[in-house]
Amino acid sequence: MFGINTKREVVPYHTTDLHSHLLPGIDDGVKTFDESIGIIRLLQSMGYQKIITTPHIMPDFYPNSENEIIALGRKLKQEIKKAGIDIQLEVAAEYYLDENILERFVSSDELLLFGGNYLLFETSYYNEPKILREAIFQLNSRGINPVLAHPERYLYLQASPALVQELLDMQVYYQLNLLSLVGYYNKATKRFARKLIKMNAYSFLGSDCHNLRHAHLLAKALKTRGNYYINKQLLLNQAV
Ligand SMILES: [Fe+2]
Repeated sequence: MFGINTKREVVPYHTTDLHSHLLPGIDDGVKTFDESIGIIRLLQSMGYQKIITTPHIMPDFYPNSENEIIALGRKLKQEIKKAGIDIQLEVAAEYYLDENILERFVSSDELLLFGGNYLLFETSYYNEPKILREAIFQLNSRGINPVLAHPERYLYLQASPALVQELLDMQVYYQLNLLSLVGYYNKATKRFARKLIKMNAYSFLGSDCHNLRHAHLLAKALKTRGNYYINKQLLLNQAV
């Protein structure tokens, strides 16, 4: 998202964030519109011009529908306008891969995509889902590009370089959580993120911002060495 010049100031070179939880009350993200506006104001001051916010769609915990997300997104847009903030807002979703979601990948016409044909999804942190390849195949066969949220956080990927490569070969796009670079999740996640950066595995950067604390940490993440080493030529943030 941002580069570092010789004085180590943050200089924006990517201005779109495509992973966050800024629609109030529908997942583990922000709770109120005020909180949302506070975060958006901060993101704008950091140089962001466009936010694609991505509430969880996780049937067991956050059974949000695409229509609910779109409606709430419209409301947030009004709040942004009322607050006089000049920033573009779009909505998509972060789909949690399970049997139910796989069915929707196969047949639903209402999937929330971004950038035309990208779909953000996440999986269990522990075990490789048995339906992972099937889900990727189904999306690809519909012309939808699967974007795996924060691959650096999955234990089953940390343990399998072969699977990291296999998914890349299956045209899965990897999205880095910038907070991984400051060790926000844990040391292993930070280490693995740096490894994936060295492999040039990432196509997208995201904040995965759930609250104001995350937004403040994001500013810190943008100044890390890890961010400095990301090959920015390969990123697609500006294309969506
Ligand atoms: Fe997320």
